[in-house]
Amino acid sequence: MVGTTIGVTPISGALGAEVAGVDLAGSLGNDAFAAVHAALLEHLVLYFPDQRLAPEDLMAFGRRFGELIVHPFLPHLDDHAEVMIVDKKEELRINIGNGWHSDMSFLAEPPLATAIHARITPPHGGDTLFTNMYAAYDALSAGMKRLLDGLTAVHDYRDDFRRAARDGRTSVDAATIEAAHEAYPPAEHPVVRTHPETGRKALYVNRLFTSHFGGMTREESRPLLGFLFEHSVRPEFTCRLRWQPQGLALWDNRCTQHYAINDYHGHRRLMQRVTIKGDRPV
Ligand code: SIN
Repeated sequence: MVGTTIGVTPISGALGAEVAGVDLAGSLGNDAFAAVHAALLEHLVLYFPDQRLAPEDLMAFGRRFGELIVHPFLPHLDDHAEVMIVDKKEELRINIGNGWHSDMSFLAEPPLATAIHARITPPHGGDTLFTNMYAAYDALSAGMKRLLDGLTAVHDYRDDFRRAARDGRTSVDAATIEAAHEAYPPAEHPVVRTHPETGRKALYVNRLFTSHFGGMTREESRPLLGFLFEHSVRPEFTCRLRWQPQGLALWDNRCTQHYAINDYHGHRRLMQRVTIKGDRPV
């Protein structure tokens, strides 16, 4: 139990908790919001079952944490650009987020958190995996921590989306990907960032968007980055979220990564997402 108003039950040893006793459709009182915020900092990923939310409610909930940002090219609701649509229809073979990443880490000020509301879920499959990047950092040797503490890395969505376009893994066309790159050039972030609210250190690289270390070539970067990508997602650092319709998940992008599993061909999965602006990583 956090505070006096909400129930919080961990779903794994590493991260993630289910939250009871809160209705996100109403306006969340300050005490309830403070309890949710504290639970997010402690558990990194929160799941709120059975939340009947209109897009306006989802936006209002996200705005309690900060300004909402619009994705440069992924689809959104016609009347609310801040609400991104994560939709895999029955006939599609590809989904969004099918690779380990922290949302939009290619921005100079990447998102603090993301909230996703499940509208339609498949009868089985379509789970989301999360990993705890504090735990990934803590488990490194002292020597590796010393090495990484001085490094930066470049985050660029273009490499992955180009590969995805070539392999038919995205419905975003190549011209859109290139055009958005002018407005969203690569960003360089510390490889180890200090969480602005908890003061804890977390690894901050991910396979989808981190292309190379600052001041090094891709070839030079590949062996150590490859190790960090593998290390970050060791099963001991992870949890697996099983969705139900109307469930809402909220996660902290500053200290987690996630992976949307694509194992439900022939069934629809439809989610609505808001993404909350964060600080420049330090
Ligand atoms: C995403 O990466 O934002 C998608 C997550 C999901 O669909 O579970």
